[in-house]
Amino acid sequence: MFIRYLWVSFSLMTYVVSCSSVVPDIECDVRAGKVSYPEFIVKVYGSGVFALISSICNAAIHSGVITNEGGKVIVKKMAGQAEYKGSLANGIRSLSLPNWRESFTVSGNITLNLRTRKDPLPTLTDNATKKVIKISECRWHIPLTADCKVDIAFLMDGSWSIGKRRFKIQKDFLMEVSQVLSVGMAGPMMGIIQYGDDPVTEFSLRQFSSSKDLKLAIDKIVQKGGLSNVGKALSYINKHYFSDSNGNRGGAPNVAVILVDGWPTDKVEEASRLARESGINIFFVTIEGPDDNEKQNVVEPNFVDKAVCRTSGFFSLPVASWFALRKAVQPLVKRVCDTDRLVCSKTCLNANDIAFVIDGSSSVGTGNFRTVLQFVANVTREFEISDTDTRVGAVQYTYEQRLEFAFGQHNTKADVLNAVKRISYWSGGTSTGAAITYAAAQLFSKSKPNKRKIMIVITDGRSYDDVRAPALAVHRQGVIAYSIGIAWAAQDELEYIATDPDRDHSFFVDEFDNLYKYVPKIINNICQEFNSQPRN
Ligand SMILES: *[C@@H]1O[C@H](CO)[C@@H](O)[C@H](O)[C@H]1NC(C)=O
Ligand SMILES: *[C@@H]1O[C@H](CO)[C@@H](O)[C@H](O)[C@H]1NC(C)=O
Ligand SMILES: *[C@@H]1O[C@H](CO)[C@@H](O)[C@H](O)[C@H]1NC(C)=O
Repeated sequence: MFIRYLWVSFSLMTYVVSCSSVVPDIECDVRAGKVSYPEFIVKVYGSGVFALISSICNAAIHSGVITNEGGKVIVKKMAGQAEYKGSLANGIRSLSLPNWRESFTVSGNITLNLRTRKDPLPTLTDNATKKVIKISECRWHIPLTADCKVDIAFLMDGSWSIGKRRFKIQKDFLMEVSQVLSVGMAGPMMGIIQYGDDPVTEFSLRQFSSSKDLKLAIDKIVQKGGLSNVGKALSYINKHYFSDSNGNRGGAPNVAVILVDGWPTDKVEEASRLARESGINIFFVTIEGPDDNEKQNVVEPNFVDKAVCRTSGFFSLPVASWFALRKAVQPLVKRVCDTDRLVCSKTCLNANDIAFVIDGSSSVGTGNFRTVLQFVANVTREFEISDTDTRVGAVQYTYEQRLEFAFGQHNTKADVLNAVKRISYWSGGTSTGAAITYAAAQLFSKSKPNKRKIMIVITDGRSYDDVRAPALAVHRQGVIAYSIGIAWAAQDELEYIATDPDRDHSFFVDEFDNLYKYVPKIINNICQEFNSQPRN
């Protein structure tokens, strides 16, 4: 619903418009996405006739004169009333007030002829009363930043190549971005790193919680000089910047926007990959990037594609000249606030190394083994698979163990699903304990530090060896273990294998044909567990 608005009243009289709300969370500059409530209370006193301290715009919505998209209204002043009765109308609950010395009514939905912004709004004379009535304009900015709860690090280029004038343009750009973002604890928070030879934190994420303060501080930033070591800066933000002590809020997606004059002087690929794996959504704003002749000077060809979260174009904004940088403010803000598209944020679906440990013993049988593979495929299908997102590996076991495929061996969902399909049924004994140890050595030892290690053991019978010690060992390595038992599987073993609490990690089905029921359950539990942990 509605956001910030301006109301403009052009007369000798200046209204005092109360924008604060009795509901602490809702103010006049509330962000659109926040007001999904069917109704909310704002300080509008009265119904139809409003006390003069009321907000014109809210009164106008309450009266049904305009919608929450704003518009122009005529305000007519009236004598004070003995009583203002609050009521609920058009989603706005107005308040009651015993009396007030002056009132106003709003009427309107008038269309004025096109005028330039600078023309004053006209005043009209009400012919009946000969009173001057005013036209006010209620303007709601449909916010770029609706629900934009994002932690954003701007990496500004402080290298000498950029020059003083352009450095100033860069600061103006950041000031404008901070303004448009409308920084605040409930919305976006913004910090700045200046990089040259080395990166330096200008402000942490938590240092400024208003655009106004941030703007003043940006103005004071002094150019450091040096090279354009973007890769080094990316390592720095990954290791040090998005920390809780620096103001990382956990629930808010992490975004890094890199401003670079021309091209970086070091390599960015590896540092970007690590940053993406930590859940940082990397955007590149390349100003005056290399032309065809200059490309040979570039340290790393296609550095933008190697760095950004996705190469779809959404995460890169090439800007032809510093003097055109300003035009990038709105598109950039729009994108960083489009939280649904910040696909590099860590989620329960993209931040795992998942190992399937599959029982290939004789008791399973060929047909049921197909069903097990279908189950593995169906679970896999729910995740986002790539080398920087969720990776999947698989082990099949009997008495012996076989690595079917390792983490990162197949890096698209289609490839993983094909690899699952190609697993051939082994047939033999059942040594589940040894299989768990094997999975730890072959798969989890190669897991990445930023991934959640998840093991899914699927078995249909009692193990010939001890599962307890191997399970305990992988639990200690931080592996979250799920056990899925079918038919003759032993309950006690399933519970040893599973991470505590067992009821969330251990499942049993009486027959293979019912295995499919546990696909949503297991995804749901993985996600619930992920969401209950501190993030980023
Ligand atoms: C205002 O007028 C326009 C055009 O006549 C109409 O579409 C709109 O619904 C009106 N708004 C309200 C709040 O009545
Ligand atoms: C008042 O009267 C004048 C002329 O008689 C007319 O042009 C104007 O539109 C009227 N104003 C209103 C608000 O009705
Ligand atoms: C896998 O998914 C397919 C398609 O939704 C379904 O028909 C099948 O029963 C599922 N099997 C298992 C074991 O989950």
